[in-house]
Amino acid sequence: MHNFDFHNPTRILFGDGQIERIGKLVPSEARVLVLYGGGSIRANGTFDAVMAALAGRTVFEFGGIEPNPTVETLSEAIALVRRERVDFLLAVGGGSVIDGTKFVAAGALLDADPWTILEQHAKNVRAALPIGVVLTLPATGSEMNAAAVITRKRTQEKFAFVSRTVYPQFAVLDPTRTYTLPARQVGNGVVDAFVHVMEQYMTVPAQAKVQDRFAEGLLLTLVEDGPRALAAPENYDVRANLMWTATLALNGLIGTGVPQDWSTHTIGHELTALYGLDHAQTLAIVLPSMLRVRRAAKREKLLQYAARVWDLRTGDEDARIEAAIGRTEDFFRAMGVGTKLSDYGLGRDAIPAVIAALEAHGMTRMGETGEVTLDVARAALEGAA
Ligand code: NZQ
Ligand code: ZN
Repeated sequence: MHNFDFHNPTRILFGDGQIERIGKLVPSEARVLVLYGGGSIRANGTFDAVMAALAGRTVFEFGGIEPNPTVETLSEAIALVRRERVDFLLAVGGGSVIDGTKFVAAGALLDADPWTILEQHAKNVRAALPIGVVLTLPATGSEMNAAAVITRKRTQEKFAFVSRTVYPQFAVLDPTRTYTLPARQVGNGVVDAFVHVMEQYMTVPAQAKVQDRFAEGLLLTLVEDGPRALAAPENYDVRANLMWTATLALNGLIGTGVPQDWSTHTIGHELTALYGLDHAQTLAIVLPSMLRVRRAAKREKLLQYAARVWDLRTGDEDARIEAAIGRTEDFFRAMGVGTKLSDYGLGRDAIPAVIAALEAHGMTRMGETGEVTLDVARAALEGAA
């Protein structure tokens, strides 16, 4: 196991009815900005529940944060924060709203063009406004981590930044708030969480037994309960397990002391920036093919994954590995997320632009050992054509 330094300060309020508690957590004298997306929280009553919990405070609102949030939209929120002297941000929504709120929290206190946060990998971020979260879509883990992914529409670029200053102070995880998710977002969320675990688990052995078994437990829960959420959207226990699993998949815990990959995500972000695919769709395309391309480097962990997640324990080792990758693809498809470029109307001719973007962004040595070069990325995309 590698050395590590782990501190996660986000307080989690989990369960039905917990939205009321934010009334106790947001300071009573705060000037609060509630940030949200395209309107799902207004349609399903979450907005009203949040406003009731904030009663008595000065509250402003900023709606319209789009999936894959853009600097173009978020700059307007930064202007509003400055104009109204907002001092607390409450994100109500999925990963896009939370990520956007993190960008606003840091950008509002920065004396420079906020896009420089992405260009400088947040090295210029010294402070951020405090953030609270009400999560409505289990997927990204953003509610309990320090990362955000922001898009600049004008240049078709999508980059991540990580800063300890943007950990939410608290996050409310009420599973009943996820009952209204469309099937597409349920599938996306399960696939995204699954791939977050894989990026931290499917590398090379590090003798990290707890991290491995914890990761396998999260994967098994997603495989078991993901399809159930599609079949029975209002099953509380299923929603509760998926919600906590997605948070634990990317709150730093399973990534402690182990090598991490993240090449599937990096390639996926270029696919979204260029072609507008949902984040999880890009992951479902890249991951299985990447595992085939890198099966030699990941052999030991692939065999462990085959045995412990898919119960493939006997027979030829190469056949077990192929079967485990095949089961992974079948699972993504069962969640309604296609695993081929052609599922989204893209052909081989879509690949060169992705490779060119990776090169332009300096992403030429990705993965846990840096061996995911542009050639490896190209092979993974061609394998998914
Ligand atoms: O905008 P509204 O109307 O709210 O609708 C949203 C949106 O259209 C809808 N939705 C959310 N909760 C709902 C609901 N509809 C009905 N009922 C509910 N309860 O779902 C749609 C998608 O929302 P979005 O927030 O975009 O999805 P997700 O949570 O998957 O977030 C994706 C973004 O997070 C980034 C991705 O790149 C992408 O930009 N990621 C952030 C990470 C992080 N911060 O650590 C890590 C991830 O790997 C990921 O890259
Ligand atoms: Zn992701």
